[in-house]
Amino acid sequence: MLSYRHAFHAGNHADVLKHAVQALILEALCAKDKGFCYIDTHAGAGGYTLGHEWTQKKAEYLGGIAPLWQQREQWPELAGYFAAIRAMNQDDRLDHYPGSPLVAAHFQRPQDRLVLMELHNNEVDNLRHNLGGEGVAIHHRDGFEGLVGLLPPTPRRGLVLIDPPYELKEDYRRVADTLQKAHQRWPIGIYAIWYPLLAKAVDRSAGLKQALARCGFERMLCAELSVGPQAEDFGMHGSGMVVLNPPWKLDEQLAGLLPRLAQTLGQDGQGGWKLDGTGDKPPTG
Ligand SMILES: C[S@@+](CC[C@H](N)C(=O)[O-])C[C@H]1O[C@@H](n2cnc3c(N)ncnc32)[C@H](O)[C@@H]1O
Repeated sequence: MLSYRHAFHAGNHADVLKHAVQALILEALCAKDKGFCYIDTHAGAGGYTLGHEWTQKKAEYLGGIAPLWQQREQWPELAGYFAAIRAMNQDDRLDHYPGSPLVAAHFQRPQDRLVLMELHNNEVDNLRHNLGGEGVAIHHRDGFEGLVGLLPPTPRRGLVLIDPPYELKEDYRRVADTLQKAHQRWPIGIYAIWYPLLAKAVDRSAGLKQALARCGFERMLCAELSVGPQAEDFGMHGSGMVVLNPPWKLDEQLAGLLPRLAQTLGQDGQGGWKLDGTGDKPPTG
């Protein structure tokens, strides 16, 4: 039974990290005329209305995109991410927030393809309502299995976003297993994997990173953003993104971005960040 609904968390600090990194990678792919394929293994509804009662329940966006949106002129490095948000809103308002599929759709050109997978019956209906048309394929299926079956994609360059809810412990194992198989089939793809930083009793981020390190991927960046201290028993104080085959200079971009995000979104000055790994490789063909 799938119970997770992303509307409860739309626009929170974890979405900011995930979608900011996603937008930077898509911008890098758009630097060339050659088409790209974007694959979202856990797409969610595609976009969210911040006034919706589910989103208002904890109004997590007030500690995420809302404070950033107010000072967006001061963040030229996030212009692409903000443009994707602006495309959903009237004037300067922040009534709607894009999920990862609508962030990707914002960057899509005629030569690019989006492949979106979602398993939840209602959420896939919402996704079909929010996106569709030329160059967009929506699959109602398991994203882990689906990814391996779809690789290598056409066009041959592109990005895979893996963003499971991690409600099931097996999601952690499936991320590492799936990545290993996916990477064998499509070694040149860029893969971005989101994961939560949770309270001490339940956090599994270290195990996930160890499992990924054991895969022996050559170029892997790991960016983490926390907005408060780690609790003992429950709660998510931050999140991370692992990026395999990061675009050129993403490490430098993140090294500039993460400290500022930690300062702006950190509660009571308790924000933190980390950036590990190797990324750089000059662009080719
Ligand atoms: C964190 S949300 C995705 C949010 C979205 N990527 C975004 O950034 O806007 C995770 C989604 O994965 C879906 N899901 C859970 N297990 C899945 C699976 N095995 N395959 C595909 N989708 C799954 C859930 O229904 C949920 O909508």
